[in-house]
Amino acid sequence: MSDVRIRVLTPQDWQLYKSARLKSLEESPDSFGSTYEQEVTLSDAEWQTRLDLKLRGLEALPLIAELEGQSVGLAWGVIHEPDTKIAQIYQMWVSPTLRGKGIAKALLGEMSTWAINKRCECIKLAVTTSNAAAVGLYTSYGYAPNGPLEPLRVGSELMVQPMVKRLVSTARDL
Ligand SMILES: CC(C)(COP(=O)(O)OP(=O)(O)OC[C@H]1O[C@@H](n2cnc3c(N)ncnc32)[C@H](O)[C@@H]1OP(=O)(O)O)[C@@H](O)C(=O)NCCC(=O)NCCS
Repeated sequence: MSDVRIRVLTPQDWQLYKSARLKSLEESPDSFGSTYEQEVTLSDAEWQTRLDLKLRGLEALPLIAELEGQSVGLAWGVIHEPDTKIAQIYQMWVSPTLRGKGIAKALLGEMSTWAINKRCECIKLAVTTSNAAAVGLYTSYGYAPNGPLEPLRVGSELMVQPMVKRLVSTARDL
């Protein structure tokens, strides 16, 4: 984990982001509301625009974890207007060969710090109920079930559990 670098993605990183995101959708199809088939059709301009937060007027933290120049993890934090007290986490993924080494923990830590600095009161996300690793991850870091189960996507038998973490500045968050 010590050699893994976490940094914010910029529009110039769109190819790196595209490759990591498509890898995550292909590798973990049951973890995300979107699908590889949906996103593989996006144009290069659309990938670039996704990371152009100024253009989109979006308050967000797109993070990549890198090891020796290769992307090994991804996560997005987004604060959706008008509810600026809530940060949402999306697209959390760690490369299978590097799981269990604390990369997701580090990504979540960055998200908490960012959300606290943005004066959010909580962080929300949704996790597929059968995804033991992700449920374990979020539960370990203070996320609790929040509301009824929902289908992962229209017509899916997989269900997601909305979860919330109330933000307090503890040593574990930061
Ligand atoms: C879920 C995921 C992001 C975890 O990434 P990771 O880097 O392996 O997680 P970490 O090593 O940081 O683990 C942190 C904590 O999560 C929990 N955890 C991680 N893997 C777990 C597993 N297989 N089973 C149960 N708990 C697990 C543990 O509490 C762990 O802390 P510990 O090592 O001190 O016990 C990763 O498995 C992944 O990318 N899965 C596919 C995509 C996905 O499901 N994304 C989530 C979408 S909501």
